[in-house]
Amino acid sequence: MHVLSFARFRLKTFSAIFERMSRRSHSASPPSRSPKRARIEHLNLDSFKDGVMLAPMVRSGALPTRLFALKHGATLVWGPEIVDKAMLHAERVVDRMWKFASVAFEKINLLNIAVTGVVSFNGKSRAIWTTHPVEKPYLIYQIGSADPEIAVQAAKMVMNDISGIDLNCGCPKPFSTHAGMGAALLTNPDLLCSILTALREAMPPHITVTAKIRFLPDQKDTLKLVERIVNTGISALTVHCRTRNMRDKDRAMIERLREIVDFVKGMGKDIAVIENGDCLGAEDAKRVRNVTGAHSVMIARAAETNPSCFSSTPLVDIDKTLVPAYLRVAKYLDNHWSLTKFCVSQFKAPIVASTKAEDKRVRETIIKARSYDDVTEIVGDWTGENDFKEIVETIEARAAGSLLPSGAAEKVATDASSGTDVQALSRASSVSQIETEVAEEYVTPEGTQNPEPPGSGAPLISDRTIPALISGEDPLTPTPAPLST
Ligand SMILES: Cc1cc2nc3c(=O)[nH]c(=O)nc-3n(C[C@H](O)[C@H](O)[C@H](O)COP(=O)(O)O)c2cc1C
Repeated sequence: MHVLSFARFRLKTFSAIFERMSRRSHSASPPSRSPKRARIEHLNLDSFKDGVMLAPMVRSGALPTRLFALKHGATLVWGPEIVDKAMLHAERVVDRMWKFASVAFEKINLLNIAVTGVVSFNGKSRAIWTTHPVEKPYLIYQIGSADPEIAVQAAKMVMNDISGIDLNCGCPKPFSTHAGMGAALLTNPDLLCSILTALREAMPPHITVTAKIRFLPDQKDTLKLVERIVNTGISALTVHCRTRNMRDKDRAMIERLREIVDFVKGMGKDIAVIENGDCLGAEDAKRVRNVTGAHSVMIARAAETNPSCFSSTPLVDIDKTLVPAYLRVAKYLDNHWSLTKFCVSQFKAPIVASTKAEDKRVRETIIKARSYDDVTEIVGDWTGENDFKEIVETIEARAAGSLLPSGAAEKVATDASSGTDVQALSRASSVSQIETEVAEEYVTPEGTQNPEPPGSGAPLISDRTIPALISGEDPLTPTPAPLST
């Protein structure tokens, strides 16, 4: 057989195999972007003002949740805390695929094109963290650290895929505090500030450095700490309005924040103070800002139960609205099933048009499901690509040159109608009133800040880049072996 025909024959036969082979490949830079895309400026001090932010949440702050939060109006999204050491030996892998382009002069030309474009930082046995270029302009990466040098090394690993880096100074869980991280930093201000200073010095100017703290028991001590932190050159400060010993079920002491906001304003640094604690959504953010004077509000548990809470009209009947779309997008992006199942199991919103029986059926199906295959009846066709495109278009439709979704500033502006109870979601007077009817094993344990040590739990992504029929190696199945759920 002529060598060219043979090559054609092999390509025809093997093109299907190429499709099935690893869709992933290493890449030094994110997938190419459409030239039509509106260019977005880097974050600046104003980017943290007049916003409603998605809080960092281990597990619950997974990539699909962040994308849905952005779709529904979150101004910026924080990723889950990743401990610096976990990232040090991670390998950056992009979801790309080799595709046949042409045969010329007895050479086979292959194109390496983006499939989903998901960027994974792979550890030894699992992805430590995943992101997507579409969220990059709005993405703050949260780091857990007790060492300036390691923090800087870890930050350098991810800085091309993020817009800002945030230091977790509030996690009260022993796995953090025993290692001197999280809330332990609150009582070790020298170390806390040395990490922030090191990050600020090491990061390029367009990467913002921020911190998330809790109150110290004494207000004067808190102000002293805030003064030192602000003087490190951070771009914004988030204050979780609880002390280290307070549990989530304890009401956040938001009235204590105003003095801190005024104090930071008095320092003349023009940085945003972001309130965190007990905010229920976009509408409720007006009340919180009125009480505290904070520039912005950050939401955790209300977004965990409904990532559309950033909209002035959050989704209701989520068994019909949010859940199927979330499942489709999560599958399309290869989000690990157990992580997806955990996130979906947290969802809860008022039932208005659909029935409780239908909602129960969906929930029971999810609880029993051991893989995406088991939820097909909920999602209908697996058209996640279309759902994902819709998310991308919505995010990209944000005003060019602005980091705020259109209408966001108006949405959270403090006005006389603050605290309006128009939205059913906002009617509950505290997050604890949003009950979850899910299997106990998938509920965040009460009083727990981080449900498990940081890490996305996503499967390890194969690093196979060249189709075996070209490289001469035996093809390996790219799909990771199913993990127990
Ligand atoms: C499931 C879960 C995971 C969390 N993970 C983190 C984390 O990784 N980093 C962090 O700073 N705070 C974390 N938190 C705390 C939240 O960011 C937030 O400070 C806290 O829940 C209070 O906000 P809320 O009243 O809106 O829930 C987590 C909270 C929850 C519920």
